Amino acid sequence: MTNLLQSRLNVRKRTLTVCVLICLILILDACASEQYPEDHEQLSEEERLVIRFSHVVGEETPKGLAARRFAELIKERTGGYVEVQVFSNSYLYKDGEEIDALLQGDVQIIAPAISKLSELVPEWQVLDLPFAFDQVEEVFDYVQGPVGQELFARLEAKGIKTLAVWDNGFKHITNSQRPIQAPEDMAGLRFRIMPSEVLYQQFRQIGAEAENYAFNEVFQLLEHEHIDGQENTLSNIISRNLHYLQNYITISNHGYLGYLVLINRAFWEGLPEEVQDVILTTLEEVTEWQHQVAKEMNEQNLQEIEACQCIQITYLDEEDRELWRQHLQPVYQYYEDKYGKQYVVSLPRFKNADQ
Ligand code: LMR
Repeated sequence: MTNLLQSRLNVRKRTLTVCVLICLILILDACASEQYPEDHEQLSEEERLVIRFSHVVGEETPKGLAARRFAELIKERTGGYVEVQVFSNSYLYKDGEEIDALLQGDVQIIAPAISKLSELVPEWQVLDLPFAFDQVEEVFDYVQGPVGQELFARLEAKGIKTLAVWDNGFKHITNSQRPIQAPEDMAGLRFRIMPSEVLYQQFRQIGAEAENYAFNEVFQLLEHEHIDGQENTLSNIISRNLHYLQNYITISNHGYLGYLVLINRAFWEGLPEEVQDVILTTLEEVTEWQHQVAKEMNEQNLQEIEACQCIQITYLDEEDRELWRQHLQPVYQYYEDKYGKQYVVSLPRFKNADQ
C-alpha cells in the first residue's frame, strides 16, 4: 500500500516537473520571439525586416568588404530576422541616383564618398580641400569634433542619419600623358572628378580640366580617351584595373576619401529599439575593422603598383607637397567665401599652426 502510494506520488512529481519544464520552454520561446519574431528559415521575405544597402564599388574593396561583413553579422545576431541585402558595383543605383533613392525610401542604407554629398550639404566639401589632412586619424578627430557634429546635424535636418564614418585613405593622381611632379605638369590635362565644386576648383586652379562622372563610367572614359586621368585611392584604382589603362601615377596623398554610412531617418525612427541597438553595436565593431582593412589594403595595393611594372610612379617629397599647397591655397579662400571660415580654421593644418 505504502509502495503504491509512493510510486503514485513519484509519477505526479515527474508529471509536475515535465509541466514546469514545458511552461519554461514556452515562456523562453515567447521572450525570444518577442525580440526577433521566429527562426528566419521559417520567415518569408515579407515577414523579415529587409534593409537594402546600395554602394558603387566592388566587393573586394574596404567598403565592399565591410558592407558584406555588416550584413552577415546582422543576420547572425538577429537569427535572420533582419536581412541586410547588399547591392555593390552600382547594381541598384549609381552616383547621382543613390542619395535620391535614400531620400525616397527606395533603399535604406548607402555609403557614398563624402564628396558626393556636396549637393545636399555643400559644407561637407571641407573634407575635399587639398592637403587638408596628413593622417586619416586627423579626419576622424575633425568629424568627431564640434564642426563635424554641425555637419552631421545638417544632414539630419535633410532627413538622413549618419550611422558611421568609413575610410578609404588618400587619393592619388593617374594619367595617360606625362609624369606629374609639380602642379604645372597638370596644365591642359582632362580629369574625371566626383561631384564637388571644391574638387573642380582644385583642378582648375592648376590649369587642368575637370568633369564630374559617375564612378562606374571611369574605366570606359579612360579606355576611350575621353579623359586623360583621374584621382582616386589605390584600392579604387586597382579594384577597377585603372592602372592598366594609365601610364603614370603620382603618389600624391593630396586629398582624403572617406564615406558616410547613411540611413533614411524616417526609416530609422520606425525601427524597433532592439533592432536599432543591434545595428549600432554591429556597425561600431565593423567600422573599427573597416578602418584597419582600408589601411592594410591601401598599403598592400601600393606594393602591387610598385611591383606591377605597368605604370610609371612619381613620389612627392615634402618640398613638392609644399609647392602644391601654395598653388592650391586659393581653393581654401573659395571654400571660405562660400561656406564660412569656421569649417576651415578647425582643420588640423590651421589648428596646429595656431597652437
Ligand atoms: C569615386 O567615385 O571615385 C569613389 O567615390 C568611389 C567610392 O565609392 O569609393
